[in-house]
Amino acid sequence: MNIILFGPPGAGKGTQAQLIVKKHNYFQLSTGDLLRSEVKKNTELGNKIEKIISKGNFVSDEIVNKLIKQTVGSLRFRDRIIFDGFPRSIDQSKHLDVILKEFSQKIDIVISLVVPREIIEKRIIGRITCDKCNLTLNEYFNKEEIKLHPCGEDNFVKRKDDNLSIVISRYDIYQKTTKPVLDFLSKNSNFHEIDGTLEIEEISAKIDTFLNV
Ligand code: AP5
Ligand code: MG
Repeated sequence: MNIILFGPPGAGKGTQAQLIVKKHNYFQLSTGDLLRSEVKKNTELGNKIEKIISKGNFVSDEIVNKLIKQTVGSLRFRDRIIFDGFPRSIDQSKHLDVILKEFSQKIDIVISLVVPREIIEKRIIGRITCDKCNLTLNEYFNKEEIKLHPCGEDNFVKRKDDNLSIVISRYDIYQKTTKPVLDFLSKNSNFHEIDGTLEIEEISAKIDTFLNV
């Protein structure tokens, strides 16, 4: 099955995608993670991407669509892709349909995580990610796990776009450009909304029931 995890910045898309990967051997296609890994390479393209992301703006469809096509077109990931952070606009949504058709793939489940803005801010400001294994935790909520993390406490880093003013701008862009995609996606016969303010494990259990596992 191919899954879309949809929701505003900080909704928990990445957290839930990581759990689905761990439990059910799916592949997480996070456009944000792919763009950040390009930034890390310090290439000309990476530097261009960093300038855009650090302001909270969207990277061009041309770049993002290319990343998507590479994964959807790969036999290795067939029928087990979690789209995390894509599609993010009506245009991207239309483009996804085209790519899926090209490779005889489809979206089987759409899961929308609903979280109000007040909660999002605290989640994002506290977010830290392990630079080695990409595990995402939160300074406010996961003090013990951070201390005990097998890769070591020192490997946790903060994202450059995780400061209050950029979060506000990312949220505004979400409301204006990304939320309208929901009208498109909610037509999917297997569309589910989940209260994203629940505990991480509760959300994960709900997702499992949709995946029929
Ligand atoms: P991206 O990396 O996709 O960021 P985003 O969509 O803003 O979403 P986040 O990653 O911030 O949040 P999340 O929902 O994954 O939450 P998480 O699980 O980490 O994109 C970054 C940038 O890249 C964009 O701004 C844009 O510039 C560019 N970009 C990406 N895709 C693009 C595209 N398609 N087109 C153009 N540009 C694109 O959780 C957040 C925190 O909350 C964590 O600390 C976590 O531990 C905690 N948490 C999670 N769930 C819970 C819970 N249930 N209870 C308590 N805490 C929780
Ligand atoms: Mg994410």
